[in-house]
Amino acid sequence: MKNHIVFMCTFALITILLQVRTISAQPAAAPAPAGPTNITKILEKAGQFSTLIRLLKSTQVGDQINTQLNNSNQGLTLFAPPDNAFSNLKSGTLNGLTDQEKVELIQFHVVPTFLSVSNFQTVSNPLRTQAGNANNGQFPLNVTTGGNQVNITTGVVDTTIANTIYTDNMLAVYQIDKVLLPLDIFGPPAPAAAPKPQKGSAPTSKDKSADASPSDDDSSDAMGRACHGVLSFFVAAIILALSL
Ligand SMILES: *[C@@H]1O[C@H](CO)[C@@H](O)[C@H](O)[C@H]1NC(C)=O
Ligand SMILES: *[C@@H]1O[C@H](CO)[C@@H](O)[C@H](O)[C@H]1NC(C)=O
Ligand SMILES: *[C@@H]1O[C@H](CO)[C@@H](O)[C@H](O)[C@H]1NC(C)=O
Ligand SMILES: *[C@@H]1O[C@H](CO)[C@@H](O)[C@H](O)[C@H]1NC(C)=O
Repeated sequence: MKNHIVFMCTFALITILLQVRTISAQPAAAPAPAGPTNITKILEKAGQFSTLIRLLKSTQVGDQINTQLNNSNQGLTLFAPPDNAFSNLKSGTLNGLTDQEKVELIQFHVVPTFLSVSNFQTVSNPLRTQAGNANNGQFPLNVTTGGNQVNITTGVVDTTIANTIYTDNMLAVYQIDKVLLPLDIFGPPAPAAAPKPQKGSAPTSKDKSADASPSDDDSSDAMGRACHGVLSFFVAAIILALSL
């Protein structure tokens, strides 16, 4: 039992350390490719975005983005859900959409201004997306920030910016954990059942299982608490180290 707990502690620590490494690596974004910006190329290079690439193509929103980047000086921000975010949707979600709704879904991930991570602290809610009206409850997209964390809510889905995939002064591409389902299509009054993804996504569940699993007897409870204490200490130490 002890060995098991020690193993769990070690595993949880490694998980945390890896996450910290990922977080500290965030600001390093890919350099701008030569020639006009090509959103497909950026996402291909990042990997894990084949569903989004396919949808950008089939809805022609990808072409819109490239043209807009070429012709506007406002820049543009794309929230990019990776393939696993799409596969975590309730099955049939995408197939249940009309072509117009697919266009709206993808446009909902596009903000027609360049937003750096620090810009999110000062934007006013709701953000205007390419999908249309943000004010009458159709396509609201709200952000809340704390430290370096940027949370996003659509009224249907809550998610967070996981990573900066690309940024120059015109285009910012952020990886997000979930597909942004707009209220207009997925809200409660809609005819189709609202597919609310369940709370507690993959990244947090590992830490939780490490925390909760040893509960067989009293001594393992104590060990579990000790493990938790050690973990808390390490997390605090890492946060302190990062802030120095
Ligand atoms: C953008 O990149 C993709 C993949 O690299 C390529 O297939 C496409 O032709 C490019 N589009 C433009 C307009 O250059
Ligand atoms: C970008 O703009 C330039 C100049 O306005 C134009 O010549 C070029 O065709 C445009 N490229 C795209 C991909 O829209
Ligand atoms: C962002 O969301 C996470 C998970 O729901 C939450 O724990 C955190 O407090 C939120 N942060 C902000 C700044 O809203
Ligand atoms: C978004 O923010 C606006 C303004 O604070 C608020 O009125 C609206 O209820 C929020 N919507 C969601 C879905 O959080």
